[in-house]
Amino acid sequence: MKVTITFDGTEVEAVRGEPVCAAIVRSGTLAIARSAKFHRPRGPSCMRGACDGCLARVDEQPNIMTCLVPAEEGLTVTSQNTLGSREVDFLRVTDWFFPEGMNHHELFAGVPGVQQVMQAFARRVAGLGKLPKEAVPVRPAPRREVEAVVVGSGPAGMAAAALLAKQGKKVEVLDDALAAGGSMRALGGWTILENPFTREVNRGSIRLRTSTTLGGIYEDELLVAGDDGAEVLKAKTLVLAPGCHDGVLAFEGNDVPGVMSARAGGLLLSHGAVPADRVLVVIPEGGGPFGEAFARAAQAEPARCEVTVVRGDPLEVSGSSQVKKVRVATAEGEKTFKAGALLVDAPRSPAYELCAQAGAKLRHEPRGYVAEGPRIRPGVYAVGEVIGTPLDPQAILESIEGLFVDERPEQA
Ligand code: FES
Repeated sequence: MKVTITFDGTEVEAVRGEPVCAAIVRSGTLAIARSAKFHRPRGPSCMRGACDGCLARVDEQPNIMTCLVPAEEGLTVTSQNTLGSREVDFLRVTDWFFPEGMNHHELFAGVPGVQQVMQAFARRVAGLGKLPKEAVPVRPAPRREVEAVVVGSGPAGMAAAALLAKQGKKVEVLDDALAAGGSMRALGGWTILENPFTREVNRGSIRLRTSTTLGGIYEDELLVAGDDGAEVLKAKTLVLAPGCHDGVLAFEGNDVPGVMSARAGGLLLSHGAVPADRVLVVIPEGGGPFGEAFARAAQAEPARCEVTVVRGDPLEVSGSSQVKKVRVATAEGEKTFKAGALLVDAPRSPAYELCAQAGAKLRHEPRGYVAEGPRIRPGVYAVGEVIGTPLDPQAILESIEGLFVDERPEQA
């Protein structure tokens, strides 16, 4: 169902429930936000609540990640942290005055007179966003005991939840995204995992809770935050399937709007949005499979954009409010490509943090920390990419075979 939202006063057509950020990108805008300090233009780079490229004020609430907000009729989205407008932010001069960076803690410190003026100015421009008009009322966090909780509804989370449901358990699946599927949505979906999951959701043995985050694990207690507030859960079986963070590489201009992970490109495309008419996909060694999946889907008839796929390492992006050119180191030497967006498909690093809180041992690899699993402690498991399982439906199904039968004993 079509709805209309506004972004900085301009009407934007959206599909009800899709990420607001996807609707804004589809309308032709990439530079949604400004960076906190130097006021550089920022655009979405992850589409999963892990960067600051889509921050905006939404219906009077500041600092909202618009990639995690469902579009609804009449929603008002306003860019923030600007003096002037989103396109012409006068505080952008900060970047030009301090080309080598700026330590605001020491700026003009000890210079009589100037120090006071600078402090007053810094206080005016510091912080991000303006407070909401009304404070959110404090709500008590209820406590509940549940049979099984699965964190993450990506491919491994779906497979684990379906297996738990088959074992006769009532399962709650938590995901901070707007829909189930995780990375799979950027790859086009895998029915072998989706169908059993959807069947159990429809039967009522799985309760899918989107827009819901597991904020922390405190021994046996889980602090859960969602649209209805916070609650504390105790689960006999806890399965962590948080997946991976996007691989982020250091190169000149990696913060220019239009530079994003290939997975983010695929997630945008799943909502019919492409970041530019001409897109360059760069796949460094060990990367994939999102870049090639994006290229296949974007160029299938009717083609959504022109895509060039290159193996190598991005060296430099030119452009200010959008990517213009990209210099890449390839096996044949350095090459420069004209493109309006760069999708980087670098090796992803496991999102090990919750597993570490649950007590998992970690091992270090060049791409980051990998949790050791699948058993962390009695009744607590980690599955999927976070323990190094390949992003492949068969590998995921084989990795969970025979699991989840040794839950914690009944708690007093
Ligand atoms: S946080 Fe929304 S695109 Fe990264």
